[in-house]
Amino acid sequence: MTTGKFIAFEGGEGAGKSTQARLLAEALRARRLDVVLTREPGGTPGAEAIRALLLGLDGQGWNPSAEALLFAAARADHVERLIEPALAAGKWVICDRFVDSSRAYQGGAGGLADEDILALHRIGSGGLLPDRVLLIEIPANEAATRLARRDAGRTDRIGGRDRTYHAGVAAAFARFATAEPRRFIRIDGDGDIAATHVKVLAAIASLLGDAS
Ligand code: TYD
Repeated sequence: MTTGKFIAFEGGEGAGKSTQARLLAEALRARRLDVVLTREPGGTPGAEAIRALLLGLDGQGWNPSAEALLFAAARADHVERLIEPALAAGKWVICDRFVDSSRAYQGGAGGLADEDILALHRIGSGGLLPDRVLLIEIPANEAATRLARRDAGRTDRIGGRDRTYHAGVAAAFARFATAEPRRFIRIDGDGDIAATHVKVLAAIASLLGDAS
């Protein structure tokens, strides 16, 4: 039996990750692969409950450490109950955000040390990493325009943070991609949806080699 592959989409707000994740899932299913499409924070009932705590606007909010702990707890449930069983059953898992979002948001922008985020990930999720991370990048101005259209003034607790925070997120992702060029593939998401999808397919082509 082939072992499943684990692909994560990463990037800032409004980059088009969710659309590209869905299109990739459809493309892989058309190749008769068994695909689980999921997202973070969330993906299991427990993790979705934590998502509401993290992104909802009730309460006073969380400092970067509390936030990192909650994301790690949500991820632990998601990995144990959904991702690992799917991979063990030979399925492909496509996840809209994973631990590199914690490294970029709570780490790069929030100020926590990368090694601390990775330590939480080891404790919670055995340090599981995606086989490939597709980093979708768009210019900050384009992101702001797309978000204004998508959210029409309604945003969540983290998406609504200021430009400096989101610039810190983008810079952190770029650093990770430079440090790990095999696991991360940078994809320019500034073109239209179909053009970006073609780049996504090219970025995972080498994973398909041993699965079909
Ligand atoms: P979501 O609505 O899924 O955002 P997007 O459409 O931009 O992907 O909300 C997820 C938010 O949570 C987003 O602002 C990024 C943030 N986040 C973190 O800060 N750390 C994490 O580990 C994860 C998974 C998400």
